[in-house]
Amino acid sequence: MINGQKKLEGEVEISGSKNAALAIVPASILVGGPCEIHCVPDIDDVKTMIEILVQLGATVEWLSKENVMIDTSTINSHTATYEMTSRIRASCYLLGALLGSRKIANVAPSGGCDFGVRPIDQHIKGFQLMGATHKLEHGADFLKADDLHGAHIYLDMVSVGATINIMLAAVKANGKTVIENAAKEPHIVDVANFLNSMGANIKGAGTDVIKIKGVETLHGGYKHTIIPDQIEAGTYMIAAASTGGNVLVKNVIPTHMESLVSKLIDIGVSIEEFEDSIRVWADKPIRKAIVKTLPHPGFPTDLQPLMTALLCCAEGLSTVNEGVWDSRFQYVDELKRMGAKIEVNGRTAFIEGVKHLSGAPIRAHDLRAGAAMVIAGLTAEGTTEIYNVKDIDRGYQNFIEKLQALGADIRRVEI
Ligand code: EPZ
Repeated sequence: MINGQKKLEGEVEISGSKNAALAIVPASILVGGPCEIHCVPDIDDVKTMIEILVQLGATVEWLSKENVMIDTSTINSHTATYEMTSRIRASCYLLGALLGSRKIANVAPSGGCDFGVRPIDQHIKGFQLMGATHKLEHGADFLKADDLHGAHIYLDMVSVGATINIMLAAVKANGKTVIENAAKEPHIVDVANFLNSMGANIKGAGTDVIKIKGVETLHGGYKHTIIPDQIEAGTYMIAAASTGGNVLVKNVIPTHMESLVSKLIDIGVSIEEFEDSIRVWADKPIRKAIVKTLPHPGFPTDLQPLMTALLCCAEGLSTVNEGVWDSRFQYVDELKRMGAKIEVNGRTAFIEGVKHLSGAPIRAHDLRAGAAMVIAGLTAEGTTEIYNVKDIDRGYQNFIEKLQALGADIRRVEI
């Protein structure tokens, strides 16, 4: 429940990256002993991933709220059930991690946000080129390899998931794997750093060619700190801009934020960058923009709904083109119910700026769309009720508390 039109002011601390944690936790399956992971975000998706590891037999000990010790040497199963895998998209990483460590994996389909079809053909292609057989058994992906070996794999499209999954399978395979047309997202580098610190030999993560020399074992005993969440940081930056506020966003890596910073400056938002924080303030009207989402270092698709919410009240006609997912404008009707003027044609939204949005009962369609609804509610006149906020809890640590500390009039209401 939000009473809008309060300027956000103050400081906010960004948590560890959701999408890095969701890959690093299953990557720990490849490590033959305990490893400590720090800055694990306290969010539902990561809790689900850790629960899956426990079901597989891993030993997990929370050292504090965000620091966890995972020992995967006790894992005794290669089967992940639908009841758990269907809750999150990242459960597909169990395929690469189990195949890489046990040469066998039986993983039920993953879930996650609904953006239309979310195939994993490129993941499977990579595993097959490495010598694995694949079949669908009772709806689950079943992989097996007598000899898992290095391979030259060209991804038909830039895929974060396929890049990480193939990297996981390749770390302990025989010989060298080359992934071409690899994704370059910051969390891919974080996963590679985690694995390298455990003894893997991965080079080129963060570029479009990744080379992995298989090693026999990965040793445990090392601590890894997860990078800050680039999308959470972007969320507060956009929220500050849309409320005409002034917020210092702390614990960020400014180079991860370049595409957003440049777009915010284009539309009249003021930005000051420091070593590990960014101040965002908006004291002028927001201007129209042309936004196109692309794989990193392009404008992130995960900030697309938030940017659309911001542009609802910008001066002039903005366009937002979705370059990654087929169907990521399903939330637009909710914004229209708040008075936004948006027309969607295929993968492009045309947004004619209005003076203000008006509060309304609306629904969080998915995680980032949910955060976009919060931004719309923060700027709207009157009260906005957002339903299905459990989808927001999947990916934002203490979202309501962090916004309250910035002066937002927002609260959770049990119904
Ligand atoms: C990751 O999803 C993120 N999820 C998504 O963030 C993010 O939107 C996406 O990357 C793009 O940045 C996690 O990290 C858990 P992809 P992923 O494989 O890996 C097509 C969030 O809000 N494709 O890069 O599933 C696919 O259909 C979430 O935090 C194939 O066709 O995305 C899409 O159009 C939502 N075949 C494009 O590639 C494949 O085998 C990019 O998908 C794989 C992908």
